[in-house]
Amino acid sequence: MTSMTSGAARLTQLMARGAEFLGSEVAILCGAMSWVSERNLVAAMSNAGGFGLIACGAMSPELLDAEIAGTKTLTDKPFGVNLITMHPQLMDLIAVCTRHEVTHVVLAGGLPPAGSIDAIKAGGAKLICFAPALSLAKKLIRSGVDALVVEGMEAGGHIGPVSTSVLAQEILPEVADTVPVFVAGGIGRGEAIAAYLEMGAAGVQLGTRFVCATESIAHANFKKAFLRASARDAVASVQIDPRLPVIPVRALKNAGGELFTAKQREVAASLDEGKVAMAEAQLQIEHYWAGALRRAVIDGDVEHGSVMAGQSVGMVTKEEPVAEIIAALMGEAEAALAKRG
Ligand SMILES: Cc1cc2nc3c(=O)[nH]c(=O)nc-3n(C[C@H](O)[C@H](O)[C@H](O)COP(=O)(O)O)c2cc1C
Repeated sequence: MTSMTSGAARLTQLMARGAEFLGSEVAILCGAMSWVSERNLVAAMSNAGGFGLIACGAMSPELLDAEIAGTKTLTDKPFGVNLITMHPQLMDLIAVCTRHEVTHVVLAGGLPPAGSIDAIKAGGAKLICFAPALSLAKKLIRSGVDALVVEGMEAGGHIGPVSTSVLAQEILPEVADTVPVFVAGGIGRGEAIAAYLEMGAAGVQLGTRFVCATESIAHANFKKAFLRASARDAVASVQIDPRLPVIPVRALKNAGGELFTAKQREVAASLDEGKVAMAEAQLQIEHYWAGALRRAVIDGDVEHGSVMAGQSVGMVTKEEPVAEIIAALMGEAEAALAKRG
C-alpha cells in the first residue's frame, strides 16, 4: 500500500462509526445555518456523501413540512433537521419530522424541554444534542441522547465561552466510547478533521466552510463578505452592561455590530436616567438583531445585517460545489494521516 492509500484507509476506518450512525459515506455534517441550510444546500451535502441538516430556526410547522418535502425531491440520501429548543411549537415541529420519517433530529439552543426527547425517539429518529460542557454531555447521555455535537467558540453563530480544542480534550476521552461525538467550531481544513478523529471524535460538523458552496442560496454579497474576510474579522458580539445580557454571536465585523454597541450604551443610559424600565430595556437589546441574519443572507445587506461566520472564514477562498469542498477536506485529512505512517 502506498502511504496515500493507507491514509485513505485509515480515514475510512476513523470515520466508520460516525458514517454508520449518520447513514452517510463520510462523517462530515454541514451544521444547520438559519436561512442558508435550506433544501438546496442540504440535498447537495447529502448527495455528495456528507450529511445535510435543515435549519428550522423560526419556521412554522407548515414551512418545515414544505422544506422537508422539497429536500426529499432533491435527494434520496438521509438528512436531518435542526430544531431550536425554545421554539414555541417544538412539539408540533417534532411531529412534522416524525410524519416525514426524518432519520436524525438535532436539538439546539439549550437543554431539551420535558417530553421532547421521548417524542423524538418514539418517532423513530436518532437524537443529536449540543454538549457545551462535560457535565452536560453526561446528563444528556443519561437522558437517552444518541450522539453529541461539541462546539467551541471559534464557530459562527451563537457560541459558548470555551474553545473547540479545550472542549474536545475535556469531553472526548470521557464519553466518546459511549456515544458518537461530532466536533464543531473552527474547522476549515482536513488536517484538523484528522486530528479530532484521532482524539476519538466520530466525525465533525462544519458550517462556515460550506456557506460559499455553489449550491448555497446565500446572497452574492454574503458570499463575497466571506471570501474577503480573515479569521480576525469574525468577532463575538460584546456585552457592555451587566444589566443588559447579550447572548454572544460570532459574525463578521460591520456597521450593524458597531451600532449594536452604541444601542447598548444608549439603553444603559436610559436605564440610569430612569427613562425606561429594566424589562423594556432588556427587550430592546434582545430584539435588536431580530431578522438581521435574514437581512444579510437573503437580502444581501451585509453592512447592517448579521453576517454570522466562524473564525475558519479565512480558509474560505472560493465559491465551489459542495462535492469539491468535501473532496478537498477528505484529501487533506488523508494526507495528514498518511504522513503519520
Ligand atoms: C450563518 C450561520 C448560521 C447558523 N445558524 C445556526 C442555527 O440556526 N442553528 C444552529 O444550531 N447552529 C447554527 N450555526 C452553527 C452551525 O450549525 C455550525 O455548528 C457552526 O457553523 C460550526 O462551526 P464553524 O462555523 O466554525 O464551521 C450557524 C452558523 C453560521 C455560520
